Amino acid sequence: MRIEVIHPKDGMKYLICVMALVASMCSAALAGDFEDAGTLFNNKNYIGAAEAYRKAAEQGNAPAQYQLGAMYYHGQGVQKDYGEALSWYRKAANQENALAQVSLGIMYINGQGVKQDYAQAVSWLRKAANQGNAMAQANLGAMYDNGQGVKQDYAQALSWYLKAANQGDDLAEVNLGMMYVNGHGVAEANQDAVLWFRKSAEQGNALVELNLGLMYDKGQVGVPQDYVQAAYWYRKAAEEGNPLAQFNLGFMYDKGEGVTQDNQQALFWYRKAAAQGNAPAQYTLALAKSNLQSDAQERPVAAINEVLAEGRLQFERSDISRNIPSCATCHGADARGRTNAPLLAGQNAAYIVKQLNLMAKQFRNSRTMHGTVTELTRQDAVAIAEYLQSK
Ligand code: HEC
Repeated sequence: MRIEVIHPKDGMKYLICVMALVASMCSAALAGDFEDAGTLFNNKNYIGAAEAYRKAAEQGNAPAQYQLGAMYYHGQGVQKDYGEALSWYRKAANQENALAQVSLGIMYINGQGVKQDYAQAVSWLRKAANQGNAMAQANLGAMYDNGQGVKQDYAQALSWYLKAANQGDDLAEVNLGMMYVNGHGVAEANQDAVLWFRKSAEQGNALVELNLGLMYDKGQVGVPQDYVQAAYWYRKAAEEGNPLAQFNLGFMYDKGEGVTQDNQQALFWYRKAAAQGNAPAQYTLALAKSNLQSDAQERPVAAINEVLAEGRLQFERSDISRNIPSCATCHGADARGRTNAPLLAGQNAAYIVKQLNLMAKQFRNSRTMHGTVTELTRQDAVAIAEYLQSK
C-alpha cells in the first residue's frame, strides 16, 4: 500500500532568471525576453509569455525552453501539445535544467506524447534528483519503492524519500510514512509513520488531510482510532473544499462522533458536499436517513426504490466492460457472507461506502477487494450500500 507520486505540482513555475549562471550564452536582449516573459506570465498574458519564451528558447536559453515546454504541456498560451512539450523539455534537460529533467521523467512515467518507459523516466529523474530537485527525489523514491524502471529497493526508496521530505515535499512525506507503516527499509514504527503523515498534512494539502482524517477515523495505517483527530483533519480538508471531507465531517456532526452532535453543522457540511456532487451527501439529504428530519412522510419513496434497484443490480451482476466482478460471487447472493468474504447485509450504508472508499484508496489494505472497488464510482458505491443496508 502506498501513495504514488507521479504528478508535477500544478502551475509550478520558476520564474527566476538564471542568466548569471549561463552568462556566456546570453546576450542582454535574451535576458530581456526571458524577464519580459516572466512578467507577462505573472500578468496571465499567456500568449505573450509563450511568444517571449519562444524567442529566448530558440536561442538556446534552457529555463525558457523549460517554460515553453510547460506551456505546451498545460496548454497555456499555446495549443496543448505533448509532442512540443517533450521536445522543449528535452532541449532544456540536455542542458542540465533540473525542472525539465523531472518533467521529462514524468512524461515517460505517464506515457504522454511518448511510449511509457520507466527506465527512461528513472534516468531523467535521477539526473534532476542528483541536482537536488525535491520532486525528482520523491518520484525516484517511488520508482524504487514500486520497482518501476529499476530493481525494487526499499533502502534506495527510503533514502530518496528522506532527501525530498527534508526539503518539505509533502508527497514524499506521505510515502515515507507508508514505509514506516509497512516496515519497508526501516523497522515498522507507527509513531514515525504518524509523524510524517502529520508533517505532510500540516502543509495544507487537502488530500493528505483527508487521508489522515480517514486513518484516525478507522484507526488504520498505524494510527490509533481517534474521532477527535479525525474530525480535526476532516475539517481542515473540508474548509479547503474537499467534498469527501465535507461529507465525512457532516457525518461526524450527524452522529456526534469526535464533535458535539449538531444537526445544523451536519446539514451545513452535507449541503456543501452535495453542492459539489458528492453522492453520499446528496442521498443522505434526499433520503433523510439521518435524524435531521423526523417527518418520515417527506422521504422520496420513488428515489429510494430507484437507488435500491440500482444497488441490487450492481451487487448481483458483473460489469465486464468496467472489470467489476459480481459482488455476490464472494459475498453470497443474499450478502450473508461466505468463507473469507464478510457479511454485508444489514450493515450501515455510510459504513459500507467508507469501507469501499478506503479499500479503493488502499488505506484499508485488502488485496482481494482493492482491484474490485477501484472501478466503482461513488454513486455505484452508495447505491450498493443503500441496497445492502436495506436487506
Ligand atoms: C473476489 C472476492 C470478492 C469480491 C468479488 C468482492 N469482495 Fe468484498 N470483500 C472480500 C473479502 C475477502 C473481504 C474482506 C477483506 C478485508 O477485511 O480485508 C471483503 C470486504 C468487503 C467489505 C468490507 C466489509 C466490512 O465489514 O468492513 C465491503 C463493504 C465489501 N467487501 C463490498 C464488496 C462489494 C460492494 C463488491 C462488489 C463490487 C465486493 N465486495 C466484491 C471479497 C470480495
